[in-house]
This record gives sequence, C-alpha cells and structure tokens, in this order.
Amino acid sequence: MVSASRTLRIAVIPADGVGKEVIAAGREVLDALAAGSGGAFALDWQEFGWGCEYYARTGRMMAADGLEVLKEFDAIYFGAVGWPGVPDHVSLWGLRLAICQNLDQWANVRPVHFLPGVRSPLRKADDTDLGWVVVRENSEGEYAGAGGRNFAGRGAGGEVAVQTALFTEVGCERIMRFAFDLARTRARRKVSSVTKSNAQQYGMVLWDDTFRRVAGDYPDVETESVLVDAMAAKFVLRPEDLSVVVASNLHADILSDLGSALAGSLGLAASANLNPERRFPSMFEPVHGSAPDIAGQGLANPVGAVGSAALMLEHLGLPGQAARLHAAIEAAAAAGVLTRDLGGTATTRDVTRALIDALPA
Ligand code: NAI
Ligand code: MG
Repeated sequence: MVSASRTLRIAVIPADGVGKEVIAAGREVLDALAAGSGGAFALDWQEFGWGCEYYARTGRMMAADGLEVLKEFDAIYFGAVGWPGVPDHVSLWGLRLAICQNLDQWANVRPVHFLPGVRSPLRKADDTDLGWVVVRENSEGEYAGAGGRNFAGRGAGGEVAVQTALFTEVGCERIMRFAFDLARTRARRKVSSVTKSNAQQYGMVLWDDTFRRVAGDYPDVETESVLVDAMAAKFVLRPEDLSVVVASNLHADILSDLGSALAGSLGLAASANLNPERRFPSMFEPVHGSAPDIAGQGLANPVGAVGSAALMLEHLGLPGQAARLHAAIEAAAAAGVLTRDLGGTATTRDVTRALIDALPA
C-alpha cells in the first residue's frame, strides 16, 4: 500500500432523488481513481444526510451548524435537492442556495462538453468541433432573494409579490474578470456577455457598462454582447462561435440547461460553484436536479456527477487526475455505454463500472 501524498477532505451531500444515485457512483469512480493514482491523492469522505427527508424529520434542510461544519472541508460534493412534498423554494433555499450564498461561491462554471459516441440534437455537431463554458454569476442578480409578499389580508386573488433583481458593480466585475481570465486559458480567447439591457434599463445596463470597462483590461480577448433571447438562438444556430459565455444568475441557469441538452442530455452536465478567493470550500455538483421521474430505478446518468468530480480535482490542484477522469468519460461514451437519456440501455451501475474500467493507468 502506497501512502498518499495528499488526502482530500470532502463533504458529501447527496440530498434527494437521483442525487443519491449519481453521487454514490461518483464516489465509487473517485475511489478507484485515487487507488490507481500511485499515491498522488487519497480521499477522506464525510457524508451528510441533509435534504428533503431530513426536512420531514427535523423541519430543517440541513443541520443548524451545517455551514460551520462545511467550512472545515477542502470541498463539497453535492447531488441534487428537491422532492415532491417539500416546496422547491424551501428545499433550494434551505440547502443549495444557503451553501452557495453563505460560502460566497460566486462563480458557477458550467462547461458544455460534447462527447464522442453521444448524439447531439444539433446536426452540425456531427462535423463541427463544439465546446464552450457558461460562467454564471452565482451570488446575486435575479436570485438575490430580495423581495416580499404582501396584502394576503385582501383575501384570495388580492396578494402582491415583488422579486427584485440585485446587480452590484462589484458582483458584475468579479464574475466578468473571472470569465476573461478563463478565456485566456482557452484556444479561442473570446467572452460573450449575455444581457437584456434593452428591457431592463438599470441592472442590465450596469452589467453592460461593467463589461465594457472590464474588457478594456483584456485587449487580447475578443468580446461580444448578446441579448439573452438572441443568445438562446445562437446556442442552437451558431454555437461554434462561443468560447466563454458570462451571464447573470437566471440567464445562465436557463442557458446552461439548453447547452447541456444540446450536448446530448442534462445528465451529462457538470458544474463547479467556486469561491475563487478560497476563503471557503467550493461545491461541485451535476447541473441536473433530483429527477423524481426516474429516481430509485438505477437509470440516472452519472456522467454529470463524475465530470463535476473532475472539476473538483482541478480546483484542488490535481489537473492530471482530472484528465484521467475525463479520459474515462470519453472512452466509456465512445464505447457506447450510454444510459437511457442518451438513447442507450445501460444502467447507472453499468456506466459506473465502464468508467472505472476505462480509467487510464
Ligand atoms: P431535473 O433536472 O431533475 O429533471 C429534468 C429532466 O432531466 C427529467 O426528465 C429527468 O429525468 C432528466 N434527468 C435529470 N438528471 C438526469 C440524469 N442524471 N440522468 C438521466 N436523466 C436525467 O429537473 P426538474 O424535473 O425540473 O426538477 C426536479 C427537482 O429537482 C425539483 O425539486 C427541482 O427544484 C430540483 N432541482 C434541483 C437542482 C439542484 O439541486 N441543483 C437543479 C434543478 C432542479
Ligand atoms: Mg438549472
């Protein structure tokens, strides 16, 4: 037994539905990766049973001291939250958003990655090299949680709600600089900013002004500013023109689901919720939700969860290990080991085994 040079302390929160299945699969693949890493790293997992079942028992989505406990870890590996019976805004705000906001994970990185052997609904994907990254502002914007409901006393039909989007220049600037820095690491040095400043003349105009100002510091990076509705069309019609796409919380949420669907399935998409200053642990999770329609049947695609683990290894300074994981993902897909969402017949278990078998030495 070789002793590992580095042991990563990972907090695991599988939470609900297929979250449990894909995180179990991801852990298995990562354990195999560590075992075959020649002592490059080892994993010390600690699992937390938070989520909707925990809520049913305790009235809370996570332990009262949960955030404090999480701060002690190197990273958080998260499944998906949400289950029928608990309102989605309660489960999301009680767990995932509580973690993202309080641990200041302000940059959400969501690569749109096309795999060999996976059929894209885009015809041009057959003969065009596609691949881009959605960088999502993950701390404010439309999901700032600012607003309120009032006038319930007027009775049924009389209530009023205000949901305010919050854009700060600090928040816009840091996510844009993050996007530009990322663009400098890619073959195509380009950042596309997603806006809606024609209709939203305050927040989105501040977003545009900040983008122009920050772009001035990156003369080597090409830029464009595209209205969100036009960007949705561009994802489908001209995706070869994209490299890094920076967008507000809501816009990027929607566009990243579109991107992963174009790559073949929501089940493939990986994401990182980063605290780039590293004051707090970052959190890695598949883009998809708890998928109650297929949960508990062993059908969930674990690739998004495994790809998220690769992002975690990159963040923790192990790019070579992340590359081994990516190689296994590509090889298993190319060999046609695909779950039902990709038109295949493989189970979560089959894909997990294939990924482990495909890990390069
Ligand atoms: P969803 O992402 O759970 O499912 C959408 C569709 O994609 C479903 O048809 C589902 O079967 C499929 N799908 C999702 N993951 C898959 C996988 N790994 N393999 C194969 N197919 C997969 O989104 P939906 O149905 O809108 O939401 C379900 C619950 O998840 C809700 O409670 C929602 O609030 C929550 N949710 C949580 C998220 C998170 O924790 N980050 C993100 C999105 C939704
Ligand atoms: Mg989403």
